[in-house]
Amino acid sequence: MKAIVVTDEAAGTAGMTLVERPEPEAAGNDVVVRVHASGFTPGELTWPGTWADRLGRDRTPSIPGHELAGVVSALGYGTRGLSVGQRVFGLADWTRDGTLAEYTAVEARNLAPLPGDVDFTAGASLPISGLTAWQGLFVHGRFQVGQSILVHGAAGGVGSMVAQLAQEAGAYVIGTGRAADRQTALGFGAREFVDLDNDSLDDVGEVDLVFDVIGGDIGKRSAGLVRAGGMLVTIAGPPEARPVDGLAVDFVVEADRAQLSEVVQRVRDGRLRTNIGNVAPLDDAVAALNPTERIRGKTIIRVRP
Ligand SMILES: NC(=O)c1ccc[n+]([C@@H]2O[C@H](COP(=O)([O-])OP(=O)(O)OC[C@H]3O[C@@H](n4cnc5c(N)ncnc54)[C@H](OP(=O)(O)O)[C@@H]3O)[C@@H](O)[C@H]2O)c1
Repeated sequence: MKAIVVTDEAAGTAGMTLVERPEPEAAGNDVVVRVHASGFTPGELTWPGTWADRLGRDRTPSIPGHELAGVVSALGYGTRGLSVGQRVFGLADWTRDGTLAEYTAVEARNLAPLPGDVDFTAGASLPISGLTAWQGLFVHGRFQVGQSILVHGAAGGVGSMVAQLAQEAGAYVIGTGRAADRQTALGFGAREFVDLDNDSLDDVGEVDLVFDVIGGDIGKRSAGLVRAGGMLVTIAGPPEARPVDGLAVDFVVEADRAQLSEVVQRVRDGRLRTNIGNVAPLDDAVAALNPTERIRGKTIIRVRP
């Protein structure tokens, strides 16, 4: 099968190559999925699971990409709940070969049925950004109706999902990002926008929840904006500063079938819009994942036309 592989962490996305690889087999509780569309998240080439298995053994050349939408083509021993021919979408395991390939093997529990009226491209754009937003807001952030929330990178993959889910759930959303992202962030449900290069973050005042996708100095300064009893939720690694009278939580997104179904239902009924910036075939994936100009939104690789 055709697949993108990486062998050299220092090379980053520029080290991706399109090669022939053996098709994967379904282990116990796995399904093999014929991939139709695949998503790739910036940063995953720095995650340890891309380079080593759970025992720390080198697993290069590894196939990156952890989001998929496709059709089940085989079931492993003991696999229940999904059937051959079923449309699915979800999150592939971090420490196994991923989804920038014609086939991938994944634990069945990581996947949810993809409704027939949601296309594969949309399905592949949802697992990481949708689940991360859902878990950060409702699981880790313990969001409550009426809260104010500062969403960093509100025009990006995760931030656009956070802004929409929060707004729909009854939040007052303040988005941040680059100057050029203002209208996009407002379109995703932000009531106000802070241009991080030109506006003062401190002018935001106090908020109940900060959802940080950027980290560094922006994460540090954001801790000071959290109201007493509030929370800083971050996906950018361990927080360098904590709210004085609140909590800081960092987490890594986990697969969850029920939450995937919640997210896709919102796409079907128009409450949630996908945020797709570019769609490219697998043959052009290396170039598409090494863009020469800034792409706003997710890049989806269409493995099958
Ligand atoms: N822990 C987890 O479970 C988890 C899950 C998903 C993602 N992540 C990580 O979270 C990060 C965001 O993912 P994503 O898919 O949302 O990425 P994305 O689509 O690139 O969105 C990030 C947004 O933030 C903006 N931004 C970044 N730094 C900025 C700065 N200094 N000032 C102003 N705007 C800035 C980006 O603008 P530019 O494009 O112009 O930089 C972009 O609009 C990535 O590092 C990813 O690896 C972690």
